Amino acid sequence: MKNINQSKNKQVNEVFNDVSSKYDLMNDVMSLGVHRVWKKRLIDWINPSKNTKIIDMSAGTGDITKEFLKRVGSDTEIYCVDPNKKMIDEGRKRLRNFKEVKWVCSHAEKLPFQENLFDVYVVSFGLRNFNDIEKSLKEAYRVLKPGGRFVSLEFSKVQNELLNKIYQTYSKAIPFIGKYLVGKSEPYEYLVKSIDNFHSQNELVEKLKDSGFTDIEFRNLSGGVVAIHSGWKI
Ligand SMILES: C[S@@+](CC[C@H](N)C(=O)[O-])C[C@H]1O[C@@H](n2cnc3c(N)ncnc32)[C@H](O)[C@@H]1O
Repeated sequence: MKNINQSKNKQVNEVFNDVSSKYDLMNDVMSLGVHRVWKKRLIDWINPSKNTKIIDMSAGTGDITKEFLKRVGSDTEIYCVDPNKKMIDEGRKRLRNFKEVKWVCSHAEKLPFQENLFDVYVVSFGLRNFNDIEKSLKEAYRVLKPGGRFVSLEFSKVQNELLNKIYQTYSKAIPFIGKYLVGKSEPYEYLVKSIDNFHSQNELVEKLKDSGFTDIEFRNLSGGVVAIHSGWKI
């Protein structure tokens, strides 16, 4: 098990090393810009207020943090956490004007934070990449304050048969688009495979329950192409 996890860790790190400089462009191309709408819906549901302490897990190039800052201004304390140094470098460049954002290089499985620290733990398109989702969710629970909230945006299972067929066909084109734009198809083969292998909406609910979260709800966006899950530490 340890070896499988370590090799996933290495593979995922290589994937994001390869795509870091073109990550934002590829997101726009592959989702036809829709990822921006999904991310706005995520922040809408969180409905953040000032003086909230947030951990943006798997922050990558900082899209979610940027959206938070737009909504609540600089009174929010945000920690952007990601294990990939190149993704962090891109994020730092994009958010260089926001000195209040703290960047931390860490995996989700073992966080360098004390318990009961954050009001909100948000993770956007990160869960799929974790090498140990159970351990990471328990870490999320540990670092949240009592009354704190976990919110995830992630690819999920399309609910409509016809839409699913169209989506599956489109997925097959993604590695070719990647090859054309980034010069490599492998990272995008990983992307398609990791989406296929990831949990359904209800399976993720169960994982959150097992990690201690309560009042768990989810919302499908774009017919279940992605879903937002929310849970609370009571
Ligand atoms: C698809 S990007 C998401 C970036 C950003 N949150 C967004 O929504 O655009 C996934 C990120 O997960 C990070 N990641 C990979 N393995 C991880 C792990 N074990 N723990 C936390 N983050 C991880 C990658 O380095 C990458 O930056």
